[in-house]
Amino acid sequence: MPHQAFTRKVETRTATVAVLGLGYVGLPLAVAFADAGLTTVGLDIDEEKVDQLRRGVSYLRDVPAAALAGHVQAGRLVPATDEAVLARADAAVICVPTPFTKAKAPDLTAVIGAAEMVARHLHAGQLVVLQSTTYPGTTEEVVRPILERTGLEVGRDFCLAFSPERIDPGNRRYVITNTPKVVGGCTPACTEACAALFGALIGHDQIHRVRGPKAAEMCKLLENTFRSVNIALVNEMLELCDRMGIDLWEVIDAAATKPFGFMPFYPGPGVGGHCIPVDPVYLAWKAREYDFHTRFIELAAETNAGMPAYTVRKVTEALNRAGRPVKGSKILILGVAFKRDIDDPRNSPALEILKLLATQGAEVTYHDPYIPKVVLSADRFLAGASITTLESVPLTAARLEAQDCVLVAVAHRDFDFPWIVRHSRLVVDAQNATKAVRERREKIVKL
Ligand SMILES: NC(=O)c1ccc[n+]([C@@H]2O[C@H](COP(=O)([O-])OP(=O)(O)OC[C@H]3O[C@@H](n4cnc5c(N)ncnc54)[C@H](O)[C@@H]3O)[C@@H](O)[C@H]2O)c1
Repeated sequence: MPHQAFTRKVETRTATVAVLGLGYVGLPLAVAFADAGLTTVGLDIDEEKVDQLRRGVSYLRDVPAAALAGHVQAGRLVPATDEAVLARADAAVICVPTPFTKAKAPDLTAVIGAAEMVARHLHAGQLVVLQSTTYPGTTEEVVRPILERTGLEVGRDFCLAFSPERIDPGNRRYVITNTPKVVGGCTPACTEACAALFGALIGHDQIHRVRGPKAAEMCKLLENTFRSVNIALVNEMLELCDRMGIDLWEVIDAAATKPFGFMPFYPGPGVGGHCIPVDPVYLAWKAREYDFHTRFIELAAETNAGMPAYTVRKVTEALNRAGRPVKGSKILILGVAFKRDIDDPRNSPALEILKLLATQGAEVTYHDPYIPKVVLSADRFLAGASITTLESVPLTAARLEAQDCVLVAVAHRDFDFPWIVRHSRLVVDAQNATKAVRERREKIVKL
Protein backbone atom coordinates (compact mmCIF):
# COMPACT_ATOMS: atom_id res chain seq x y z
CA MET A 1 0.00 0.00 0.00
CA PRO A 2 1.49 3.36 -0.88
CA HIS A 3 1.67 5.35 2.35
CA GLN A 4 1.53 8.83 0.78
CA ALA A 5 -2.26 9.19 0.95
CA PHE A 6 -2.24 8.20 4.63
CA THR A 7 0.68 10.53 5.36
CA ARG A 8 -1.11 13.44 3.66
CA LYS A 9 -4.20 12.85 5.81
CA VAL A 10 -2.05 12.96 8.94
CA GLU A 11 -0.19 16.07 7.79
CA THR A 12 -3.42 17.90 6.99
CA ARG A 13 -4.91 16.67 10.26
CA THR A 14 -7.82 15.08 8.45
CA ALA A 15 -6.96 11.58 9.65
CA THR A 16 -8.98 9.90 12.41
CA VAL A 17 -7.03 7.77 14.87
CA ALA A 18 -8.53 5.03 17.01
CA VAL A 19 -6.73 4.02 20.18
CA LEU A 20 -7.78 0.60 21.48
CA GLY A 21 -7.36 0.29 25.24
CA LEU A 22 -7.58 3.44 27.35
CA GLY A 23 -5.33 2.46 30.24
CA TYR A 24 -2.03 3.84 31.48
CA VAL A 25 -0.67 3.75 27.93
CA GLY A 26 -3.71 4.32 25.72
CA LEU A 27 -5.33 7.24 27.52
CA PRO A 28 -2.28 9.57 27.54
CA LEU A 29 -1.67 8.59 23.91
CA ALA A 30 -5.26 9.36 22.89
CA VAL A 31 -4.97 12.76 24.60
CA ALA A 32 -1.64 13.38 22.85
CA PHE A 33 -3.20 12.64 19.44
CA ALA A 34 -6.04 15.03 20.24
CA ASP A 35 -3.46 17.64 21.39
CA ALA A 36 -1.77 17.23 18.01
CA GLY A 37 -5.05 18.11 16.30
CA LEU A 38 -6.04 14.64 15.12
CA THR A 39 -9.60 13.48 15.64
CA THR A 40 -9.23 10.61 18.06
CA VAL A 41 -11.54 7.80 19.04
CA GLY A 42 -10.73 5.98 22.27
CA LEU A 43 -12.12 2.48 22.28
CA ASP A 44 -12.29 0.36 25.42
CA ILE A 45 -14.34 -2.64 26.51
CA ASP A 46 -14.66 -1.23 30.03
CA GLU A 47 -18.01 0.62 30.05
CA GLU A 48 -17.36 2.25 33.41
CA LYS A 49 -14.04 3.71 32.25
CA VAL A 50 -15.55 5.02 29.04
CA ASP A 51 -18.51 6.56 30.91
CA GLN A 52 -16.09 8.38 33.18
CA LEU A 53 -14.06 9.64 30.23
CA ARG A 54 -17.17 10.84 28.43
CA ARG A 55 -17.82 13.01 31.49
CA GLY A 56 -14.27 14.35 31.19
CA VAL A 57 -13.13 12.59 34.37
CA SER A 58 -9.54 11.38 34.28
CA TYR A 59 -8.50 8.40 36.37
CA LEU A 60 -4.78 8.88 35.78
CA ARG A 61 -2.60 11.38 37.62
CA ASP A 62 -0.60 11.94 34.43
CA VAL A 63 -3.67 12.98 32.43
CA PRO A 64 -5.07 16.33 33.61
CA ALA A 65 -8.88 16.30 33.73
CA ALA A 66 -9.02 19.79 32.16
CA ALA A 67 -7.16 18.71 29.01
CA LEU A 68 -9.25 15.57 28.71
CA ALA A 69 -12.57 17.36 29.27
CA GLY A 70 -11.63 20.08 26.73
CA HIS A 71 -10.95 17.49 24.02
CA VAL A 72 -14.07 15.48 24.82
CA GLN A 73 -16.29 18.57 24.76
CA ALA A 74 -14.78 19.74 21.48
CA GLY A 75 -15.32 16.29 19.95
CA ARG A 76 -11.59 15.88 19.30
CA LEU A 77 -11.49 12.86 21.59
CA VAL A 78 -14.43 10.48 21.49
CA PRO A 79 -14.44 7.73 24.15
CA ALA A 80 -16.40 4.72 22.90
CA THR A 81 -17.23 1.10 23.58
CA ASP A 82 -18.84 0.46 20.21
CA GLU A 83 -16.28 -1.01 17.82
CA ALA A 84 -18.25 0.36 14.85
CA VAL A 85 -16.20 3.57 15.28
CA LEU A 86 -13.28 1.66 13.77
CA ALA A 87 -14.93 1.81 10.37
CA ARG A 88 -14.04 5.51 10.06
CA ALA A 89 -10.55 5.24 11.57
CA ASP A 90 -7.56 5.81 9.30
CA ALA A 91 -5.27 4.36 11.96
CA ALA A 92 -5.87 1.90 14.79
CA VAL A 93 -3.32 1.79 17.61
CA ILE A 94 -3.58 -1.22 19.93
CA CYS A 95 -2.62 -0.55 23.58
CA VAL A 96 -4.24 -3.45 25.42
CA PRO A 97 -2.73 -5.43 28.32
CA THR A 98 -0.24 -8.25 27.83
CA PRO A 99 -0.11 -10.13 31.13
CA PHE A 100 1.08 -13.71 31.65
CA THR A 101 -0.80 -16.82 32.68
CA LYS A 102 -0.41 -18.73 35.95
CA ALA A 103 1.93 -21.09 34.10
CA LYS A 104 4.08 -18.10 33.12
CA ALA A 105 3.21 -18.08 29.44
CA PRO A 106 2.21 -14.93 27.51
CA ASP A 107 -1.49 -14.20 27.69
CA LEU A 108 -2.36 -12.56 24.39
CA THR A 109 -6.14 -12.74 24.87
CA ALA A 110 -6.53 -8.93 24.79
CA VAL A 111 -4.21 -8.46 21.80
CA ILE A 112 -6.08 -11.14 19.87
CA GLY A 113 -9.45 -9.65 20.89
CA ALA A 114 -8.36 -6.18 19.79
CA ALA A 115 -6.91 -7.46 16.50
CA GLU A 116 -10.16 -9.32 15.77
CA MET A 117 -12.07 -6.13 16.49
CA VAL A 118 -9.87 -4.17 14.06
CA ALA A 119 -10.19 -6.96 11.47
CA ARG A 120 -14.00 -6.73 11.52
CA HIS A 121 -13.71 -3.11 10.30
CA LEU A 122 -10.45 -3.24 8.38
CA HIS A 123 -10.44 -1.26 5.18
CA ALA A 124 -8.00 -0.38 2.44
CA GLY A 125 -5.60 2.44 3.26
CA GLN A 126 -5.71 1.85 7.02
CA LEU A 127 -2.67 1.70 9.33
CA VAL A 128 -2.71 -0.74 12.26
CA VAL A 129 -0.07 -0.35 14.97
CA LEU A 130 0.54 -2.70 17.89
CA GLN A 131 1.96 -0.88 20.93
CA SER A 132 1.44 -3.49 23.64
CA THR A 133 4.71 -4.87 24.96
CA THR A 134 5.14 -8.41 23.72
CA TYR A 135 7.59 -11.01 22.42
CA PRO A 136 9.26 -10.60 19.00
CA GLY A 137 7.04 -12.13 16.37
CA THR A 138 3.65 -11.15 17.78
CA THR A 139 2.86 -8.56 15.10
CA GLU A 140 3.71 -10.85 12.22
CA GLU A 141 2.72 -14.22 13.66
CA VAL A 142 -0.39 -13.33 15.67
CA VAL A 143 -1.84 -9.98 14.54
CA ARG A 144 -1.07 -10.18 10.81
CA PRO A 145 -2.91 -13.50 10.15
CA ILE A 146 -5.99 -12.20 11.99
CA LEU A 147 -6.04 -9.08 9.80
CA GLU A 148 -5.26 -10.91 6.55
CA ARG A 149 -8.09 -13.38 7.11
CA THR A 150 -10.27 -10.53 5.80
CA GLY A 151 -8.75 -11.00 2.35
CA LEU A 152 -6.88 -7.70 2.61
CA GLU A 153 -3.11 -7.94 2.42
CA VAL A 154 -0.43 -6.17 4.43
CA GLY A 155 1.67 -3.85 2.27
CA ARG A 156 -0.77 -4.05 -0.62
CA ASP A 157 -4.06 -2.97 1.00
CA PHE A 158 -3.24 -1.81 4.51
CA CYS A 159 -0.22 -1.12 6.72
CA LEU A 160 0.85 -2.95 9.88
CA ALA A 161 3.64 -1.96 12.25
CA PHE A 162 4.90 -2.34 15.79
CA SER A 163 5.98 0.66 17.82
CA PRO A 164 6.95 0.13 21.45
CA GLU A 165 5.47 2.29 24.16
CA ARG A 166 8.01 4.14 26.26
CA ILE A 167 5.73 6.06 28.57
CA ASP A 168 7.13 6.34 32.08
CA PRO A 169 4.24 7.13 34.43
CA GLY A 170 5.16 9.79 36.96
CA ASN A 171 8.12 11.04 34.89
CA ARG A 172 7.66 14.78 34.47
CA ARG A 173 10.75 15.32 32.35
CA TYR A 174 10.13 12.74 29.64
CA VAL A 175 6.59 12.52 28.35
CA ILE A 176 5.11 11.19 25.11
CA THR A 177 5.93 14.34 23.14
CA ASN A 178 9.67 14.45 23.90
CA THR A 179 10.54 10.74 23.94
CA PRO A 180 11.88 9.33 20.67
CA LYS A 181 9.77 6.60 19.13
CA VAL A 182 10.95 3.40 17.45
CA VAL A 183 8.87 2.15 14.52
CA GLY A 184 9.10 -1.07 12.55
CA GLY A 185 6.60 -1.94 9.84
CA CYS A 186 6.00 -5.18 7.95
CA THR A 187 7.07 -3.37 4.75
CA PRO A 188 9.00 -0.12 4.22
CA ALA A 189 5.70 1.64 3.40
CA CYS A 190 4.20 0.35 6.67
CA THR A 191 7.20 1.82 8.53
CA GLU A 192 6.70 5.16 6.78
CA ALA A 193 2.97 5.29 7.55
CA CYS A 194 3.69 4.56 11.22
CA ALA A 195 6.50 7.16 11.22
CA ALA A 196 4.11 9.74 9.78
CA LEU A 197 1.53 9.06 12.49
CA PHE A 198 3.91 9.37 15.44
CA GLY A 199 5.92 12.10 13.75
CA ALA A 200 2.78 14.23 14.09
CA LEU A 201 3.07 13.83 17.86
CA ILE A 202 6.75 14.15 18.54
CA GLY A 203 8.35 15.60 15.41
CA HIS A 204 9.75 13.59 12.51
CA ASP A 205 13.34 13.89 13.72
CA GLN A 206 12.37 11.92 16.86
CA ILE A 207 11.35 8.81 14.91
CA HIS A 208 13.81 5.92 14.75
CA ARG A 209 13.07 3.36 12.06
CA VAL A 210 14.05 -0.30 12.33
CA ARG A 211 13.82 -2.93 9.62
CA GLY A 212 10.71 -4.70 10.84
CA PRO A 213 8.28 -5.30 13.71
CA LYS A 214 10.50 -7.96 15.32
CA ALA A 215 13.36 -5.51 15.89
CA ALA A 216 10.91 -2.98 17.34
CA GLU A 217 9.37 -5.63 19.62
CA MET A 218 12.80 -6.77 20.76
CA CYS A 219 13.90 -3.16 21.32
CA LYS A 220 11.28 -2.76 24.05
CA LEU A 221 12.29 -6.03 25.69
CA LEU A 222 15.96 -5.03 25.57
CA GLU A 223 15.16 -1.72 27.26
CA ASN A 224 13.19 -3.39 30.02
CA THR A 225 15.47 -6.37 30.59
CA PHE A 226 18.39 -3.92 30.72
CA ARG A 227 16.64 -2.31 33.67
CA SER A 228 15.72 -5.63 35.22
CA VAL A 229 19.29 -6.98 35.02
CA ASN A 230 20.86 -3.82 36.41
CA ILE A 231 18.36 -3.58 39.24
CA ALA A 232 19.04 -7.24 40.04
CA LEU A 233 22.77 -6.52 40.13
CA VAL A 234 22.38 -3.79 42.74
CA ASN A 235 19.87 -5.89 44.66
CA GLU A 236 22.43 -8.69 44.89
CA MET A 237 25.09 -6.14 45.86
CA LEU A 238 22.76 -4.87 48.56
CA GLU A 239 22.69 -8.15 50.39
CA LEU A 240 26.46 -8.53 50.11
CA CYS A 241 27.09 -4.96 51.29
CA ASP A 242 24.71 -5.51 54.19
CA ARG A 243 26.76 -8.51 55.35
CA MET A 244 30.00 -6.55 54.85
CA GLY A 245 28.74 -3.49 56.71
CA ILE A 246 29.00 -1.25 53.64
CA ASP A 247 26.37 1.33 52.70
CA LEU A 248 25.57 0.46 49.08
CA TRP A 249 23.78 3.76 48.45
CA GLU A 250 26.96 5.61 49.35
CA VAL A 251 28.88 3.31 47.01
CA ILE A 252 26.46 3.95 44.11
CA ASP A 253 26.66 7.72 44.60
CA ALA A 254 30.44 7.43 44.53
CA ALA A 255 30.48 5.25 41.41
CA ALA A 256 28.07 7.64 39.69
CA THR A 257 30.72 10.37 39.78
CA LYS A 258 32.47 8.49 36.97
CA PRO A 259 31.40 10.39 33.86
CA PHE A 260 31.51 7.39 31.52
CA GLY A 261 30.84 3.65 31.61
CA PHE A 262 28.59 3.67 34.68
CA MET A 263 24.90 4.33 35.07
CA PRO A 264 23.38 4.34 38.55
CA PHE A 265 20.63 1.87 39.40
CA TYR A 266 19.24 1.61 42.90
CA PRO A 267 18.23 -1.36 45.02
CA GLY A 268 14.78 -1.64 46.54
CA PRO A 269 12.04 -3.90 47.87
CA GLY A 270 11.44 -5.45 44.44
CA VAL A 271 10.19 -4.54 40.99
CA GLY A 272 6.57 -4.05 39.97
CA GLY A 273 4.28 -2.64 37.35
CA HIS A 274 3.29 -3.95 33.99
CA CYS A 275 6.75 -4.09 32.44
CA ILE A 276 9.82 -5.11 34.40
CA PRO A 277 8.33 -8.24 36.07
CA VAL A 278 6.38 -9.24 32.95
CA ASP A 279 8.71 -8.75 30.01
CA PRO A 280 11.36 -11.34 30.94
CA VAL A 281 8.55 -13.91 31.03
CA TYR A 282 7.58 -13.05 27.46
CA LEU A 283 11.16 -13.18 26.23
CA ALA A 284 12.04 -16.42 28.03
CA TRP A 285 8.89 -18.08 26.67
CA LYS A 286 9.67 -17.14 23.07
CA ALA A 287 13.35 -18.04 23.45
CA ARG A 288 12.36 -21.62 24.26
CA GLU A 289 10.92 -21.92 20.73
CA TYR A 290 14.49 -21.32 19.54
CA ASP A 291 15.89 -23.85 22.02
CA PHE A 292 17.55 -21.03 23.92
CA HIS A 293 17.57 -20.45 27.65
CA THR A 294 17.76 -16.77 28.70
CA ARG A 295 19.74 -17.63 31.83
CA PHE A 296 20.96 -14.17 32.67
CA ILE A 297 17.57 -12.55 32.25
CA GLU A 298 15.77 -15.20 34.25
CA LEU A 299 18.33 -14.99 37.05
CA ALA A 300 17.73 -11.24 37.21
CA ALA A 301 13.97 -11.76 37.39
CA GLU A 302 14.45 -14.36 40.14
CA THR A 303 16.77 -12.06 42.12
CA ASN A 304 14.30 -9.18 41.91
CA ALA A 305 11.41 -11.46 42.82
CA GLY A 306 13.25 -12.35 46.04
CA MET A 307 13.41 -8.74 47.28
CA PRO A 308 10.02 -8.58 49.03
CA ALA A 309 11.05 -11.58 51.16
CA TYR A 310 14.42 -9.95 51.84
CA THR A 311 12.62 -6.78 52.94
CA VAL A 312 10.39 -8.76 55.26
CA ARG A 313 13.51 -10.37 56.74
CA LYS A 314 14.93 -6.90 57.43
CA VAL A 315 11.69 -5.85 59.12
CA THR A 316 11.69 -9.05 61.19
CA GLU A 317 15.30 -8.52 62.28
CA ALA A 318 14.67 -4.89 63.15
CA LEU A 319 11.63 -5.81 65.26
CA ASN A 320 13.59 -8.61 66.87
CA ARG A 321 16.34 -6.23 67.92
CA ALA A 322 13.62 -4.10 69.51
CA GLY A 323 12.40 -7.21 71.39
CA ARG A 324 9.20 -7.68 69.43
CA PRO A 325 8.01 -10.60 67.31
CA VAL A 326 6.39 -9.96 63.93
CA LYS A 327 3.23 -11.68 65.13
CA GLY A 328 1.02 -9.07 66.72
CA SER A 329 3.29 -6.15 65.76
CA LYS A 330 1.69 -3.08 64.25
CA ILE A 331 3.39 -2.36 60.92
CA LEU A 332 2.53 0.59 58.70
CA ILE A 333 3.66 0.41 55.08
CA LEU A 334 4.25 3.76 53.42
CA GLY A 335 3.50 3.55 49.70
CA VAL A 336 1.94 0.65 47.82
CA ALA A 337 2.35 1.99 44.28
CA PHE A 338 4.87 0.03 42.24
CA LYS A 339 7.10 3.09 42.19
CA ARG A 340 7.28 6.64 43.42
CA ASP A 341 4.76 9.37 42.57
CA ILE A 342 2.36 7.15 40.64
CA ASP A 343 -1.07 5.71 41.39
CA ASP A 344 -0.54 2.25 39.93
CA PRO A 345 -0.30 -0.70 42.38
CA ARG A 346 -0.05 -3.47 39.74
CA ASN A 347 2.45 -6.17 40.72
CA SER A 348 3.65 -3.85 43.47
CA PRO A 349 6.31 -5.43 45.71
CA ALA A 350 4.81 -3.47 48.62
CA LEU A 351 1.64 -5.54 48.31
CA GLU A 352 3.61 -8.75 48.40
CA ILE A 353 5.43 -7.52 51.50
CA LEU A 354 2.08 -6.62 53.02
CA LYS A 355 0.77 -10.11 52.39
CA LEU A 356 3.92 -11.80 53.72
CA LEU A 357 3.77 -9.77 56.94
CA ALA A 358 0.03 -10.39 57.34
CA THR A 359 0.57 -14.10 56.86
CA GLN A 360 3.08 -13.98 59.74
CA GLY A 361 0.44 -12.46 61.98
CA ALA A 362 1.46 -8.80 61.87
CA GLU A 363 -1.25 -6.14 62.04
CA VAL A 364 -0.46 -4.45 58.74
CA THR A 365 -1.94 -1.21 57.46
CA TYR A 366 -0.79 1.06 54.68
CA HIS A 367 -0.82 4.69 53.68
CA ASP A 368 -0.57 5.83 50.08
CA PRO A 369 -1.85 9.28 49.09
CA TYR A 370 -2.55 8.08 45.55
CA ILE A 371 -4.05 4.65 46.18
CA PRO A 372 -7.11 4.80 48.46
CA LYS A 373 -7.87 1.07 48.36
CA VAL A 374 -6.16 -2.16 47.37
CA VAL A 375 -7.73 -5.50 46.66
CA LEU A 376 -5.35 -8.31 47.46
CA SER A 377 -5.54 -11.37 45.28
CA ALA A 378 -6.36 -14.44 47.32
CA ASP A 379 -3.22 -16.45 46.72
CA ARG A 380 -0.89 -18.61 48.74
CA PHE A 381 0.30 -15.62 50.76
CA LEU A 382 -3.11 -15.06 52.22
CA ALA A 383 -3.78 -18.68 53.15
CA GLY A 384 -3.60 -17.96 56.87
CA ALA A 385 -4.53 -14.29 56.90
CA SER A 386 -7.95 -12.76 56.91
CA ILE A 387 -7.46 -9.59 54.86
CA THR A 388 -8.37 -9.26 51.20
CA THR A 389 -9.22 -5.57 50.86
CA LEU A 390 -7.44 -2.72 52.58
CA GLU A 391 -7.97 1.01 52.63
CA SER A 392 -5.23 3.59 52.97
CA VAL A 393 -5.17 4.90 56.55
CA PRO A 394 -4.65 8.60 57.26
CA LEU A 395 -1.07 9.50 58.09
CA THR A 396 -1.05 11.22 61.49
CA ALA A 397 1.53 11.65 64.22
CA ALA A 398 -0.63 9.53 66.56
CA ARG A 399 -0.80 6.71 64.04
CA LEU A 400 2.96 6.73 63.50
CA GLU A 401 3.55 6.72 67.26
CA ALA A 402 1.28 3.69 67.63
CA GLN A 403 3.31 1.55 65.21
CA ASP A 404 5.97 -0.96 66.14
CA CYS A 405 7.52 -0.42 62.73
CA VAL A 406 7.04 1.88 59.77
CA LEU A 407 8.26 0.50 56.45
CA VAL A 408 9.07 2.99 53.71
CA ALA A 409 8.31 0.89 50.63
CA VAL A 410 7.84 3.79 48.20
CA ALA A 411 9.43 7.23 48.49
CA HIS A 412 6.59 9.43 47.21
CA ARG A 413 7.72 13.05 47.01
CA ASP A 414 4.75 14.08 49.18
CA PHE A 415 6.07 12.20 52.20
CA ASP A 416 7.69 14.38 54.88
CA PHE A 417 10.43 12.03 56.02
CA PRO A 418 11.90 14.10 58.88
CA TRP A 419 8.37 14.30 60.35
CA ILE A 420 7.79 10.56 59.76
CA VAL A 421 11.05 9.62 61.52
CA ARG A 422 10.36 12.04 64.38
CA HIS A 423 7.04 10.36 65.19
CA SER A 424 7.96 6.73 64.53
CA ARG A 425 9.62 4.28 66.89
CA LEU A 426 11.34 2.26 64.20
CA VAL A 427 11.66 2.96 60.48
CA VAL A 428 12.79 0.38 57.93
CA ASP A 429 13.74 2.38 54.87
CA ALA A 430 13.71 0.31 51.67
CA GLN A 431 14.38 3.32 49.40
CA ASN A 432 17.07 5.39 51.12
CA ALA A 433 14.29 7.95 51.38
CA THR A 434 15.48 9.15 54.77
CA LYS A 435 18.93 9.98 53.43
CA ALA A 436 18.57 13.67 54.26
CA VAL A 437 16.97 13.19 57.68
CA ARG A 438 19.41 14.57 60.25
CA GLU A 439 17.70 13.85 63.58
CA ARG A 440 16.98 10.57 65.30
CA ARG A 441 18.81 8.49 62.72
CA GLU A 442 19.20 5.71 65.29
CA LYS A 443 15.57 4.80 64.60
CA ILE A 444 16.30 4.10 60.93
CA VAL A 445 17.24 0.70 59.51
CA LYS A 446 18.19 0.78 55.84
CA LEU A 447 17.38 -2.14 53.59
N1 LIG B 1 1.83 1.08 32.09
C1 LIG B 1 3.01 1.33 31.59
O1 LIG B 1 3.79 2.10 32.17
C2 LIG B 1 3.48 0.72 30.29
C3 LIG B 1 4.64 1.22 29.70
C4 LIG B 1 5.06 0.69 28.48
C5 LIG B 1 4.33 -0.34 27.89
N2 LIG B 1 3.21 -0.82 28.50
C6 LIG B 1 2.47 -1.87 27.80
O2 LIG B 1 1.31 -1.31 27.21
C7 LIG B 1 0.23 -2.25 27.22
C8 LIG B 1 -0.97 -1.66 27.93
O3 LIG B 1 -0.64 -1.43 29.28
P1 LIG B 1 -1.49 -0.50 30.23
O4 LIG B 1 -0.63 -0.26 31.41
O5 LIG B 1 -2.02 0.67 29.50
O6 LIG B 1 -2.71 -1.47 30.57
P2 LIG B 1 -4.08 -1.09 31.30
O7 LIG B 1 -4.58 -2.33 31.93
O8 LIG B 1 -3.90 0.15 32.12
O9 LIG B 1 -5.07 -0.66 30.12
C9 LIG B 1 -5.47 -1.52 29.12
C10 LIG B 1 -6.89 -1.16 28.70
O10 LIG B 1 -7.24 -2.00 27.59
C11 LIG B 1 -8.62 -2.32 27.71
N3 LIG B 1 -8.89 -3.48 26.84
C12 LIG B 1 -8.67 -4.79 27.06
N4 LIG B 1 -9.03 -5.51 25.99
C13 LIG B 1 -9.49 -4.62 25.06
C14 LIG B 1 -10.00 -4.75 23.73
N5 LIG B 1 -10.10 -5.93 23.14
N6 LIG B 1 -10.38 -3.64 23.10
C15 LIG B 1 -10.29 -2.43 23.67
N7 LIG B 1 -9.81 -2.25 24.93
C16 LIG B 1 -9.41 -3.33 25.61
C17 LIG B 1 -8.82 -2.53 29.19
O11 LIG B 1 -10.17 -2.40 29.56
C18 LIG B 1 -7.93 -1.40 29.77
O12 LIG B 1 -8.68 -0.21 29.96
C19 LIG B 1 0.81 -3.50 27.86
O13 LIG B 1 1.28 -4.35 26.87
C20 LIG B 1 1.97 -2.98 28.68
O14 LIG B 1 2.96 -3.96 28.88
C21 LIG B 1 2.77 -0.30 29.68
